[in-house]
This record gives sequence, C-alpha cells and structure tokens, in this order.
Amino acid sequence: MSPETSLVDSHGRTLRDLRISVTDRCNFRCLYCLPETEAAANFFRDRWRHTPSKAIRHSWKPKHEILTFEEIERFTRMAVSCGITKIRLTGGEPLLRQNIANLVSRLSAIEGVKDLAMTTNGFLFPKFAEALKAAGLHRISISLDSFDQDNFKRLTGMAGLDEVLDSVRIAKRLGFHPIKINAVVIRNLNDHEMEALCHYALDEQIAVRFIEFMPLDSTKSWQRDYVVSSSEILDRLRNRFELTPRKPNHSAETAQRWRINGTDAELGLIAPVTQPFCGHCNRLRLTADGQVRTCLFSLREHDFKPFLRGDASDQEMIDGLKAIVAQKEAGHRIGQTDFIQPARTMSCIGG
Ligand code: 5AD
Ligand code: SF4
Repeated sequence: MSPETSLVDSHGRTLRDLRISVTDRCNFRCLYCLPETEAAANFFRDRWRHTPSKAIRHSWKPKHEILTFEEIERFTRMAVSCGITKIRLTGGEPLLRQNIANLVSRLSAIEGVKDLAMTTNGFLFPKFAEALKAAGLHRISISLDSFDQDNFKRLTGMAGLDEVLDSVRIAKRLGFHPIKINAVVIRNLNDHEMEALCHYALDEQIAVRFIEFMPLDSTKSWQRDYVVSSSEILDRLRNRFELTPRKPNHSAETAQRWRINGTDAELGLIAPVTQPFCGHCNRLRLTADGQVRTCLFSLREHDFKPFLRGDASDQEMIDGLKAIVAQKEAGHRIGQTDFIQPARTMSCIGG
C-alpha cells in the first residue's frame, strides 16, 4: 500500500484498525458505561461518598439516523482500500442490531479484511453464535467483570452471568480463536475478583484482559480513585500466578500480555489511564449514526452521513476520510487539568 493511498495522520501514524459501532442501544447498564441503575448510584454514593452528577439519561438515536448495512459496507470498503485490515464490530451491544450476521458476511467477504472481530456483552451470543461463525466472524471478546451472581448484576444491571459463561463455552466449541474476556476493574467493586477471573482464564485456556476504568461513563461518575492501575493488578497477580511476558503481536498492541502458569491461557493488561498507548494508536472509529471519530476521547466528530447519503463518489469520500484522519489527536488528556470528558459515552462510541 503506497503512502498516498494509506490513512496517515499528522503524527506519522498509519491507521489499520477500524471499530464500527453498529447500534448505540444496549441491554446492559454497566456501571462503568451506562451507570443508570440504583445499584450504580448507590455504589458511587455509599462507597465513595460521591454523588454522581444528575444522570444524563441518554436517548437512543432514531432509526433513520443509524447507518444501513449498505452504508457501513461502503464505508468499510473504502477504509480497506486505504489500508485498514482489522475490523471490530461493537455497540452498544452489537447483537441487538437486527440481522447482524448479514453484516458480518458482507464485511468478511471484503478482500483485504484480515481480521474481523466483535466485542459483545455475551448475553445474546448463544443465540447468534453459529450464524456469526458461518458468516465469517473470526474472533470474539466478551465482557465479564465478575464471577459472583450478585456482583455481576450490580456491575451490569442484568442477571446474566450464566448466559455469559455459556457464551464462552459455545465460542470455544465453535472454534472462535482467540477468545478474550474483558474485565474493567473498579476499586472496591470487583478488584477482589481478579484472581478468580485469572483462574477462570486458566481453566478455560482463554485470555483475560483487565482494563483500567476510563472516564467515558454516562453519568460522569468517574474519578481517578476508582482506577486500579495495571501495575497494581500485575503486582497482585504475580503473587498468585507464574506470569511470563509474551511478545506483542504487532506494534500497535494495546495490551501487555503474559502467559499464565506456562500455559496458553493469557493475562492482558490495558492501561489507557496510567500508561497511555496513544503514541502508536492505529485506530479509527465509526459510530452507529455515521460519525467518524479519530480518538475515543475526541471532542469533535466528523459526520460522514452527508457523504454516504449524498452523491459523493468513492474518491471524494476517500479524500474526505484522509482529511479527517490527518487531524487525529496526538493523544488523550486524562489526568491533565484541561481534560474534558467527551459528550458521548462508550456505549455510543464503541469499545
Ligand atoms: N472504561 C474502560 N473500559 C470500558 N468499556 C466500556 N466502558 C468502559 C470504561 N468506562 C469496555 C468494556 C467493554 C467494552 C465494550 O468496552 O470492557 O467490554
Ligand atoms: Fe456494558 Fe457494553 Fe452495554 Fe456499555 S455498551 S452498558 S459496556 S454491555
């Protein structure tokens, strides 16, 4: 791919990874994303004597604003023609989008898509797993923040632990590989469960990834004190497991990875707050309503719908996309005095 046809930003980073949010809707209310439950309000108030700012009850986008499969496919084809090779479908909860397997088969058929993955909360996965596999989905990441029925419900707003564990079993049986479990660690909420989650990864021979809590929640309840840093997590887990470092798969890897007890089970640590990896970030995001975002923490979105719904040629759109990419931020500013949390939450932007 020649530099003229690649997506290169003004900091010299070449983008390869496109994350597509296919819906802003979700059937969960995770405390770190949509903490709009009583349990979430109680947690932030009782444990931290911190009253969350008034819940900004988000409203879902109306259907006509959501990109159609044709529009998503066209955007993806253009992005791939400019060097994108990895695609991840996210939400909200991507499995709430009707006929999602059809989108997967459209995208997996695009020549140049080397890796097609999905991030899901796992609740509906058992229902769609076979269709997704048949449609050409390669990989799956499933959120699992707790092993305890009550804590799972507190964390997600849904009594869904059994369904999620079932999802992992089914994903294994169908041969999705690798299977990753994502756990956001929040102090005094689920940090005591890290060891249990690691044991689970070991038993199932899958990857568990602990992610630092980021300020992307809808009630703006995030505070630095809730974050358990990756180095603290590592120190704790080293006491219980034999962890051997693994080489990064590629230069834009966001996780530091370890083999657990000499097996193929893997521990991944993702430290966007305490050890930002912005310098080698190669990601681009498309929201369900057609906004291009160059960073999770972008304060500015670029509306691509007028392109997709107007009579712009592919070349005009590619030129437009390159101009947007050129403006990709150097990095986020969490922890700086001028940090401003983006108006949209993770559920709209996509993980
Ligand atoms: N901080 C860190 N990770 C988050 N996710 C969602 N919200 C946050 C947040 N505030 C991650 C979860 C989920 C994925 C979609 O995004 O791990 O699995
Ligand atoms: Fe949880 Fe994902 Fe839904 Fe947010 S979008 S509430 S992280 S399941």
